[in-house]
Amino acid sequence: MLSLLFMLSVDLLEPLMESWRNSLYPESAFEAMVRDWYLDSFRDLRSFPEIKDNNDEREFTQMIKAIKVRHNNVVPMMALGVQQLKKGMDPKIVSEDLDEIHQFLDRFYMSRIGIRMLIGQHVELHNPNPPLHCVGYIHTKMSPVEVAQNASEDARCICLREYGSAPEVNIYGDPKFTFPYVPTHLHLMVFELVKNSLRAVQERFMDSDIVPPIRIIVADGIEDVTIKVSDEGGGIPRSGLPKIFTYLYSTARNPLDEHSDLGTADTVTMAGYGYGLPISRLYARYFGGDLQIISMEGYGECSLLWFDHLNSCKIKVKL
Ligand SMILES: Nc1ncnc2c1ncn2[C@@H]1O[C@H](COP(=O)(O)OP(=O)(O)OP(=O)(O)O)[C@@H](O)[C@H]1O
Ligand SMILES: [Mg+2]
Repeated sequence: MLSLLFMLSVDLLEPLMESWRNSLYPESAFEAMVRDWYLDSFRDLRSFPEIKDNNDEREFTQMIKAIKVRHNNVVPMMALGVQQLKKGMDPKIVSEDLDEIHQFLDRFYMSRIGIRMLIGQHVELHNPNPPLHCVGYIHTKMSPVEVAQNASEDARCICLREYGSAPEVNIYGDPKFTFPYVPTHLHLMVFELVKNSLRAVQERFMDSDIVPPIRIIVADGIEDVTIKVSDEGGGIPRSGLPKIFTYLYSTARNPLDEHSDLGTADTVTMAGYGYGLPISRLYARYFGGDLQIISMEGYGECSLLWFDHLNSCKIKVKL
């Protein structure tokens, strides 16, 4: 376990260093901070002595738990770094260069999901009082309808805070249906999709008395579990579809222009980083699922999340 995490940390550092070396993208303060976190964690892991007894095992568990906390803010920090990069970007930089950034970030975040999953799994398996039906991070009887309800409420709270009102979210599906999955992963994906739909509907129907609800449908198939989030927020044109899964694309205002305290404050914004969709797709793909967006410009959008049943032998986990 120790050596696996060890190698993963090195693996993570390599692409980071590679991008610093590339003079096209100057290193920003946010990214330098993230790199330092990785170096600190790498040193902590390296210097930990060989595990010989239960006491060492407990100390190791505490140490990797602290590492996980240290890295809690990696995504917002990197997002701020990318926003900074976008603001100061040389217009001569062509789209193939952006592809390179996108691929690097995809690899980087996929490794991060893998490492956090491994640490979380290790820590939870050492929990003397594990929650009911949980094996580490995996909930063996997770109700997607319940998770979708919680994620929608969280997204609506942010919408209320930002716009003063929030469209309704109607969820259709059997609340008793369960399948083994990681609830925090599903929560994140539904939260991001609902946040996008709320923003689109809210902005389109700002001055209307009748606001169409967002609909979430949970379907249980033989192979797949599918969650569909649809809205009547006007959709996106076909020309915009190839861009929506890139980390540099957002039609919202740059959060760096809106909030000067973003580097320090614990603020969740409605939109603006261009991270919601690419990150959600990585989470879906981590356990062999996927995310697709179908748009009808002038009407609305439909996001489809697919998952394999986790006990299916087809599961491919990426580390
Ligand atoms: N349901 C939707 N209706 C209309 N446009 C959408 C919808 N979902 C996404 N988009 C478009 O895709 C872009 C990218 O979405 P994404 O969630 O990745 O980033 P974001 O919402 O701009 O910022 P954040 O990282 O804060 O979520 C959005 O800025 C928006 O233009
Ligand atoms: Mg979003």
